[in-house]
Amino acid sequence: MIREIVKYPDPILQRPTEKVTEFNDELRTLAADMFESMYMAQGIGLAAPQIGIGKRITVIDLSNQKEPGEKLVLVNPEIVHREGRQVQEEGCLSLPEIRDKVVRAARVRVRAQDLNGVWQDLEGEELLARAFQHEIDHLDGILFPWRLSGLKRDLILRRIRKMQKTGEWK
Ligand code: NI
Repeated sequence: MIREIVKYPDPILQRPTEKVTEFNDELRTLAADMFESMYMAQGIGLAAPQIGIGKRITVIDLSNQKEPGEKLVLVNPEIVHREGRQVQEEGCLSLPEIRDKVVRAARVRVRAQDLNGVWQDLEGEELLARAFQHEIDHLDGILFPWRLSGLKRDLILRRIRKMQKTGEWK
């Protein structure tokens, strides 16, 4: 089922999520809904708070549905290692039309459970490393403008407030 994407400033996007403790059909349905909603919105990653669910789960598919092997579900993920540095433009489905260059680690290793609760280690570099960091930030209640300088962040928030006033931001 396609669920509506929650936009900033909804408080659910700014709160740390709760650990997933039950690996059941409800969780599998949630993951399937997250993929469907992400594909519909043309995203490559989506975290549960972005559909209004405060749980520690995120889905990623850099191939945008073209390669079934690239569908990743990360339950209770944690970054266990990071190295290097990359600077690339980033966007977010919860902040439409906002883009900016964000400094991230170039390579990360993530420890996460799958939908059956089995722990796995995943490694990513470049875009995948960026997606891991962006989505795990969501699970900690952090949006990408919070990774920018105070000045850039204030400019973005001011731009959003302006769009809210004119009704362009829904
Ligand atoms: Ni995002």
